[in-house]
Amino acid sequence: MTKFELIHYLLSILIWLIHFDYHFVNASSAFEQNVDTKKTFIYGPGLDKKITLPVRYFYIQPVDINNLNITRSLGDKAFDVTVTQANGNRARVWVQLLDPQDGSYIVRYRLYESYSDIIINVQYKEQNVAKSPYKLSGMVYHEKCNCPVNRIDKWFEVMGCPETYHQIDEDLSIFDNVDLEKVAAEAVSRFSNRGMHSLSHYRIINNKIYRKTYGEHVGFKMFSDSVLLSLTRKVMLPDVEFFVNLGDWPLEKKDKKDNPLPIFSWCGSDLTRDIVMPTYDITEATIEMMSRVSLDVFSVQGNTGPQWENKTSKAFWRGRDSRQERLDLVELSRERPELIDAALTHMFFFPKDPEKYGELVKTISFFEFFKIKWAESHEEEVLKIVSNARSFVRENLLPKDIYCYHAKVFNKFSKLLKYKPKLPNSSWELVEQPTDNDAKCDCKRSTKSKTKEKKDEL
Ligand SMILES: *[C@@H]1O[C@H](CO)[C@@H](O)[C@H](O)[C@H]1NC(C)=O
Ligand SMILES: *[C@@H]1O[C@H](CO)[C@@H](O)[C@H](O)[C@H]1NC(C)=O
Ligand SMILES: *[C@@H]1O[C@H](CO)[C@@H](O)[C@H](O)[C@H]1NC(C)=O
Repeated sequence: MTKFELIHYLLSILIWLIHFDYHFVNASSAFEQNVDTKKTFIYGPGLDKKITLPVRYFYIQPVDINNLNITRSLGDKAFDVTVTQANGNRARVWVQLLDPQDGSYIVRYRLYESYSDIIINVQYKEQNVAKSPYKLSGMVYHEKCNCPVNRIDKWFEVMGCPETYHQIDEDLSIFDNVDLEKVAAEAVSRFSNRGMHSLSHYRIINNKIYRKTYGEHVGFKMFSDSVLLSLTRKVMLPDVEFFVNLGDWPLEKKDKKDNPLPIFSWCGSDLTRDIVMPTYDITEATIEMMSRVSLDVFSVQGNTGPQWENKTSKAFWRGRDSRQERLDLVELSRERPELIDAALTHMFFFPKDPEKYGELVKTISFFEFFKIKWAESHEEEVLKIVSNARSFVRENLLPKDIYCYHAKVFNKFSKLLKYKPKLPNSSWELVEQPTDNDAKCDCKRSTKSKTKEKKDEL
C-alpha cells in the first residue's frame, strides 16, 4: 500500500468514527428554559400505526415561548413518554427517551406483542406536549408478527419510501434479462473457492425464503436471512432469486461489457459491479435494536462518551485482521504510538506475529470505540463534518430507510429476471420464520397469494 493510500485509509476511518460522535456542541447539563408545550414539534414514523418497524421512533423538538427551537438539552429525562393500550391495560413495550444533547429528543419503543389501539403519551412537567395523547387506532403489529401487507406498492406508499434510489438505479442499470441459471453456474464456479469466498443463493417464492450456500465460511448468512425474514413479515415480496456475497469485499470485477454477474454485497466500489445493500451491521442493529444489539443509529446519539474537551487526540482502532491494510495500520501504530492507537483483537486470516503486530487485545465496546477525536486544530472542519454526518444519518440511515432500500432493490431486481424463479427442490433449505408463540400477533391481513387477492389489506 502506498503512503497516500494509507493516509486515505486512516482518514476514512477517522471520518467514519467522527460520524458517530456528532453532538458535543453545547453538551452541557440540563438548563432551565420556558418550553411552549403546544408549539413543540412531535413528528416521525412511530406515530403512524401502519409503519411497522422493529423499533418505532419519533422526534421531539422543543420550542420556547419566543417560538424558537430549543438547541440545548433540557436534561436527559425532560419528557415523560408512556405507551399503553387504549383500554388502559399495560402494553408489553419498552420505551426510551434519547437525548442527543442538541435540544431535540428521540423517542423509540419496541412492542413485544401486537395490540389493537395504543396510546402514546408525551408530557413535559406533567403537561401534554403537542398533540399528545396520540392514539394509534386499529392493529399495531410488533416485529415478530408475521403479517405481510399484500401489495408492495401500497406498502411503499405507507412507508413513504422514495420512488427510487440513485445507487440502486446505477447498480442495476447494467443488468437485464438475467438468466439466473447461467448466473448460478458461473457464480458457483467463480466465487465458491475454498476459504476465499462464500455465497448464499436465495429464492423467494410466494413470500417464503429458500436458500443454498456455497463456500466454507457461511455463518454470515444469518444476516441476510434475518433481513429477508423481517421484510417478508411486513410485505409480500415479489418472487425473486439472487446471490448474496457473504464476504467483506465486493466480488465482481468484470467490465460492464463482459457480462458481469449480479451479486448482492454489503460493500461496493467504483471498480466492482456488485449490487450494494445496507451493511449487515446497520441492518442487524436495526432489526435487533433494543434487543440483542445495543449499538445502533439511535443509541450512539444518546451515548456520546466524554465531552469533547476530554477526548484524547489520538486515532483509535480495534478490529480483526481481515485485510493487509489493518496490519499495516497496527505496525504504524507501534512506530508512532503517540498518534495512533491501533491493535488487533483477532487473527483469523493472517499468521500471528506478536513481534510485528503486538499481542492481541480485548474487543472493546463500541461506545468506547467512538470516544476518539481528531486534532483540536481541525475543530471547525470537524463541526461541519459532524453536522453533515448528522443530516446524512437522519435522511438515509434510519430504520425506515433500511427497510425501504432492501425492498426496493429486491423488487427492482425481480423485474430484471428472464423467467420467474421455480419452486426449488429438496437440495434447498427453507428459511423459516422464528416462532413467537408467547406473543399475540393476531394478523388481520389476508396473506393469501397475490394472484387472487384484491381486497385492501391495510
Ligand atoms: C424547528 O424544528 C422543526 C422540527 O425539527 C423544524 O421543522 C423547523 O424547521 C425548525 N425551525 C427552525 C426555525 O429552525
Ligand atoms: C473532564 O474530565 C475530568 C476528570 O475526569 C472531569 O472532572 C471533568 O468534569 C470532565 N469535563 C467535562 C466537560 O466532562
Ligand atoms: C435439485 O435440482 C438440481 C438442478 O436444478 C439437481 O442438480 C439436483 O440433483 C436436484 N436435487 C435433488 C435432491 O432433487
